[in-house]
Amino acid sequence: MNVDPLPRLIQGGMGIGVSNWRLARAVSKLGHLGVVSGTALDVVLARRLQQGDPGGHMLRALGHFPRLNVVLPIIARFYPANGAPSQKESFRAAPMPRLDMLKDHEELLIAANFVEVYLAREKQSGVVGINLMEKIQFPTLAALYGAMLAGVDYVLMGAGIPNHIPAVLDALVSGQPATLKVDVAGSGDASHLMTFDPWKFWQGPPPALKKPKFIPIVSSVTLALSLAKKSPGNIAGFIVEDSTAGGHNAPPRGPAKLNARGEPLYGPRDLPDLERFRKLGYPFWLAGSYWGPGKLEEALAAGAVGIQVGTPFAFCEESGIAPELKEQVLKAVSEGKIDVFTDPLASPTGFPFKIVQLEGTVSSSEVEAGRNRVCDIGLLRQAYLKSDGTVGYRCASESVNDYVRKGGKAENTRGRKCICNGLLATVGLGQIDSSGKFEPPLVTAGDSLMHLRYFLRRGSLSYSAADVVEILLAGLPDEVGVMQT
Ligand SMILES: Cc1cc2nc3c(=O)[nH]c(=O)nc-3n(C[C@H](O)[C@H](O)[C@H](O)COP(=O)(O)O)c2cc1C
Repeated sequence: MNVDPLPRLIQGGMGIGVSNWRLARAVSKLGHLGVVSGTALDVVLARRLQQGDPGGHMLRALGHFPRLNVVLPIIARFYPANGAPSQKESFRAAPMPRLDMLKDHEELLIAANFVEVYLAREKQSGVVGINLMEKIQFPTLAALYGAMLAGVDYVLMGAGIPNHIPAVLDALVSGQPATLKVDVAGSGDASHLMTFDPWKFWQGPPPALKKPKFIPIVSSVTLALSLAKKSPGNIAGFIVEDSTAGGHNAPPRGPAKLNARGEPLYGPRDLPDLERFRKLGYPFWLAGSYWGPGKLEEALAAGAVGIQVGTPFAFCEESGIAPELKEQVLKAVSEGKIDVFTDPLASPTGFPFKIVQLEGTVSSSEVEAGRNRVCDIGLLRQAYLKSDGTVGYRCASESVNDYVRKGGKAENTRGRKCICNGLLATVGLGQIDSSGKFEPPLVTAGDSLMHLRYFLRRGSLSYSAADVVEILLAGLPDEVGVMQT
């Protein structure tokens, strides 16, 4: 039997749209694991189409989707009639994720995830993964199915306990209905299930699909152990991510404490116990500032098969971050004037979220104060059981009145930012409201962002994914010294 070698380098899945098909494709073609972010791909596809699909990539990939009757309504709904994008109008909304998902939303999700993976894999033989977040549950089944229709090689999932995913992958591969238990606050012991049935989608027998390898992203060996126990044989390995990684972080263990800057205080108990990971017997990759000098060697010496790297890829030429924001960040990095704040409140999930402190973005309280608190993307909404037994949705970053009317506590809204709209704006897909006001961007990155200066060779303010791979494998220059995190 031929067993594929495991990748040494994984390019982190960075949402929304930062790890896009171009970035994943570039890394995959170089022989490493290129990963697309599966977060909000329905919105991303809908908005790219409304922008007139520059380069024609969305339409080309949709042309390869196996069911034309799914694709045509999507094009009719989101692609401008004359192909020319409207400069001033708001984007037409994609449906918000919900438990009782409508058929057209499910189809949009399947098609959008197919498109991103298809383009990353198009006419090349490298491996491609998709990153999904456990806490964003409603789109998961459709997203996985779309990615699998496009032949995705790996599924990477963190931000929660993804213990149902191996069974879901087994069901989808064999064309059986897949079921996912989802959280609805206030339900007590009652469970809520979502089901996706490939037979219904195909209106007949579904095609056989390749089973992707599954890699959960964890921050503790306890979680890894429980996942391994639940699904022995169905886990290809673990990504072990620490609190210096970009995006959301696991909260510190024990009672919540803040440092002098108001960031969550992490201590030795929060460091992953690598000795126990080694004893677990599964392959593992280390993530979180593992791109400094000697860090790959350090990871290998600790028993890891490799590393997952985010921040350097997030700001390379191929990533989805808008070019002007990349330049603004890299210029600040080159001048030594960049700061990343681990915000304990910003995310409506209550998880710490890293925010690059950057003029003109939601990191500034004036910019934040200038936006209307609306929830119109809804990825991080909490589903809750209403008194009439139906399911409602609330987000701690929406209008305070709305949140409180839905039974949320006003104090939970303090300091919350709209991560969904901010991240979409960061990748050039920000909403414009009816008064013509643009949603401001929100940039996230790992604690070691400052060290990107070592990728800025010859005083330039850009570098490619291939530069990142080359430098990572060759080791950063000696003069970098030990990265401070
Ligand atoms: C811009 C950005 C967005 C990220 N978004 C996600 C995400 O959506 N899901 C996820 O599992 N990890 C996310 N991460 C974490 C990365 O996948 C990766 O584990 C992390 O960046 C590794 O640490 P490093 O940035 O120091 O290399 C994100 C990281 C960055 C920099």
